Amino acid sequence: KWPETITIKEVGPRDGLQNEKIFIPTDDKIAWINELSKSGLTSIEVTSFVNPKWIPALADAVDVMAGIKREPGVSYSALVPNRQGLERAFAADIDEAAVFMSASETHNLKNINKTIPDTLPVLKEIVQDANAAGKKTRGYVSTVFGCPYEGVVNTEAVVRVADSLFDMGIDELSLGDTIGVANPRQVQEVLDLLLKRFPSDKLAMHFHDTRGMALANVLASLDMGITVFDSSAGGLGGCPYAPGASGNAVTEDLLYMLHGMGIHTGVDEEKILAASAFIQEKIGQSLPSKNLQAAGAH
Ligand code: HMG
Ligand code: MG
Repeated sequence: KWPETITIKEVGPRDGLQNEKIFIPTDDKIAWINELSKSGLTSIEVTSFVNPKWIPALADAVDVMAGIKREPGVSYSALVPNRQGLERAFAADIDEAAVFMSASETHNLKNINKTIPDTLPVLKEIVQDANAAGKKTRGYVSTVFGCPYEGVVNTEAVVRVADSLFDMGIDELSLGDTIGVANPRQVQEVLDLLLKRFPSDKLAMHFHDTRGMALANVLASLDMGITVFDSSAGGLGGCPYAPGASGNAVTEDLLYMLHGMGIHTGVDEEKILAASAFIQEKIGQSLPSKNLQAAGAH
């Protein structure tokens, strides 16, 4: 009853590094992304074309995009918040633009300095221009399962944002558990509602593992027929404008579970582990990845 094949979208270079206190040198980012590119992944979120004052860790977005060696069959995406970001992203020749907003007003305001109604026309312009330029587009909705400022988020608010983003013309919507508060029952309730409106192949799940729920929530999503998951090699990650947020679902832990269940991903676990070991050394402290710890233990 589970899907036979799952697509993993690697977000470590973006979501993983955006929250790091230390600035990872551009050449190290490039070397890491080049390793990830050779693992069989088909999608890597490389960086963010946001205001570098807001996210200093990714201020080298243009240089990273220019420096990586692009592998055939891999789509290289980046976050784009506004027109200025889109111009930079076009100049860097991204394959896919990812726009983002929140289901809750307070997180939206803290994260992108605009109300939800003021955000919609900005994102609409990006999605339309990116589509017109032949780029794929992805939409993120954050705080789907809870907001660090408002607490409970009404699923109706998620549906409204999802409707708006699909109306703009996004190719795929990623549902973000920004602060890792979801549980499998809540995941199934939210998906039950969304899958009545949108086909399962248009939805991706983006779990943060703040409370250790990420893999349980992936399993609940698999039961509902979801086939696209975002994760981060090593388990880096978090949103600097969401207090308490920590790493994404760990790519190698997700692969261990899926491959063990007989589900195909096309991604080489050993190569991801090697890439995670590389970035762990650059970060200089041990990362949340269970499989990386297990591999180091013998
Ligand atoms: P703002 O300050 O309101 O922008 O930022 P502004 O339009 O008023 O411009 C102010 C200054 O920023 C100007 O420069 C602009 O040129 C510059 P100044 O005149 O002061 O020298 N600026 C830019 N520079 C470079 N690139 C740009 C850009 N835009 C403005 N694109 C903005 C508004 C949205 C840009 C800002 O709030 C921002 O960058 N926010 C990004 C925050 C962020 O990246 N958060 C993390 C990603 S979201 C996330 O992690 C959640 C997710 O993983 C899913 C989940 O887990 O839920 C996706
Ligand atoms: Mg995230």
